[in-house]
Amino acid sequence: MEISVQGIALKYKEKIPEEFIRSKDEQPGITTVEGTALEVPVIDLRNPDEEKILESIVDASQKWGMFQVVNHEIPGEVISKLQLVGREFFELPEEEKEKEVYVKPVEVDQYDAGTLSLEGYGTKLQREVQGKKGWVDHLFHKIWPPSAVNYHFWPKNPSYREANEEYAKWVQGAVGGENLVYLAKINYYPPCPQPEVVLGVVAHTDMNNITILVPNDVQGLQAFRDGLWYDVKCIPNALVIHIGDQMEILSNGRYKSVLHRTRVNKEKTRMSWPVFLEPPADFQVGPHPKLVNENNPAKYKTKKYSDYVYCKLNKIPQ
Ligand code: OGA
Ligand code: NI
Repeated sequence: MEISVQGIALKYKEKIPEEFIRSKDEQPGITTVEGTALEVPVIDLRNPDEEKILESIVDASQKWGMFQVVNHEIPGEVISKLQLVGREFFELPEEEKEKEVYVKPVEVDQYDAGTLSLEGYGTKLQREVQGKKGWVDHLFHKIWPPSAVNYHFWPKNPSYREANEEYAKWVQGAVGGENLVYLAKINYYPPCPQPEVVLGVVAHTDMNNITILVPNDVQGLQAFRDGLWYDVKCIPNALVIHIGDQMEILSNGRYKSVLHRTRVNKEKTRMSWPVFLEPPADFQVGPHPKLVNENNPAKYKTKKYSDYVYCKLNKIPQ
């Protein structure tokens, strides 16, 4: 990789390079409704009234496209270990990181190359309209099912592998999803001297079905609601759940994928560990036949997930 954002952060202590500075209509310092954090629904999975849990999930998926879950089954130690090994990887010097893991080339566009793999360590994700860069580095690799896992993309450290395999097993046990592929990501947002003018991850909806995200204790997630950007307060030990595009499509628009982005911190490093639950690449996704009839025509095309991803990342209409 040319240079990581972490490398940039070490080099530029006061003024950051122009390519990170957002236009005024994107800068979080200007476009955020200050002083009101969104009260995203918090769902207690230990509620004995299971029907109520289901109802709240349906309601949140329709009205918010996101929610947080508490008292989930995944043990705290499993999550702390996942966080620890991820942090250890990102804290390695750049040369060491490059020995540990596959580094994605910056210039070669992998989606053009037809491999459609996001896996590896890098900094660029989607084509950006104005060629701006996000203040974030990332690592992507699949963690489930075992047949989809390629350890070439994982850091070599045995404790990294152990922690991620353990987490994958717990997520699998909690969520299931027979045919889904679990794509894990780590976002690493170094401290930024000018946090008001940059974005971490730019505004997007997740393209997969459902995202399960573990944050660290530095806030930064924002969601778009009624035409405005708000901070979302991530509560300790909760998992953040996003409804993604494939779920919106499958439900023929009943569930909404939520537009979100992240801002970064002046002093602290923010990190997050989303797992994207997605269909296999050649799986055809469209509105569920039971939800479509003469009165409710299909609002979305049915297409292969890999074609959807290709269009999304290259900003081609679906
Ligand atoms: C993402 C994302 C949010 C966060 O990686 O898709 O939305 O809190 N991350 O880091
Ligand atoms: Ni996202």
